[in-house]
Amino acid sequence: MDTFGVIGPGAVGSVIGESLHTSGYQVTFLGRKAGEVYIERASASETAAFPVEAISEAETVFDYLFITVKGTQLEGIIPYLDKLTHENTVCILCQNGYGQLDKFHIPNAYQAVVYISGQKKEKVVTHFRDRILILPENPVTKKLKEGIAASNLDIRLSPDYRYEVWYKLLVNLAINSVTALSRNTALILEEEKIQHLCKRLIQEGIAIAAAEEIHFQEGITEEIMRIYAGYPPYMGTSMYYDIIAGKTMETAYIQGYLYEKSQTYGLDTPCLDAVYSLLLASEMRG
Ligand SMILES: NC(=O)c1ccc[n+]([C@@H]2O[C@H](COP(=O)([O-])OP(=O)(O)OC[C@H]3O[C@@H](n4cnc5c(N)ncnc54)[C@H](OP(=O)(O)O)[C@@H]3O)[C@@H](O)[C@H]2O)c1
Repeated sequence: MDTFGVIGPGAVGSVIGESLHTSGYQVTFLGRKAGEVYIERASASETAAFPVEAISEAETVFDYLFITVKGTQLEGIIPYLDKLTHENTVCILCQNGYGQLDKFHIPNAYQAVVYISGQKKEKVVTHFRDRILILPENPVTKKLKEGIAASNLDIRLSPDYRYEVWYKLLVNLAINSVTALSRNTALILEEEKIQHLCKRLIQEGIAIAAAEEIHFQEGITEEIMRIYAGYPPYMGTSMYYDIIAGKTMETAYIQGYLYEKSQTYGLDTPCLDAVYSLLLASEMRG
């Protein structure tokens, strides 16, 4: 039987681990320290508990490793990858943004476009919705999908994977930028000027995608704005929660990735350039 490891028992990792565990797969949750993680849902009264092993103590070698730490935390887990993997281990990087794999060179790795919504506070993960991972379609990911077919983890293999990556990048770009920089929740979408800024950011993202040969259909900006309009006013974004908590934001992998592409193609992206600069400035410490 294949062995599965989840590095980073947070919102995304715990839900992935839970999906595999409850269907009888052999899964180990690997965190900074040994302990437990709890998963709760508004719809269910019961809380599920899962043991967490300290990654530094782990001795198992895994066939599949889901890496679910944030992009900013990747460096901390790289030293452990050698002992946790064999030459055919498949790593699934489950993170927002793009470009991380180029920077870290994890062997046999694929980045998933993640549609799992949750939040971790202390040891408790609240799972709001979805269990979807979108991966590029190839023999390795097909084998993974077939191998975990009995679980409720919804692995979708996309023949147009780069489109999926860029769609999620566009969705993350505007709302993460405006909520993090204003240190305010989705409530700010009620302000017309913020709606206008979001549209400009999405349109600049679309132009960068086009330079990368990813073409979106007409009406995509309005579609993404409708997604934002569906957010409850009290809802934050991952970059908003990070900045409020004083944690490093995943700017490098969202706005930074897009900014570098814009520079490469010599595009005019004034809104992106401004929000990226301000996000960098917001994390400067003396
Ligand atoms: N949450 C969402 O709704 C959502 C949706 C789509 C995509 N994403 C993306 O998914 C990725 C993961 O986000 P998340 O929300 O699941 O983050 P998270 O809740 O903060 O989980 C990250 C987990 O990794 C652990 N970790 C950090 N460094 C570690 C290390 N060196 N060794 C072992 N464990 C370590 C953290 O432990 P500590 O708590 O001890 O730091 C935490 O439990 C991000 O790229 C995010 O943008 C999230």
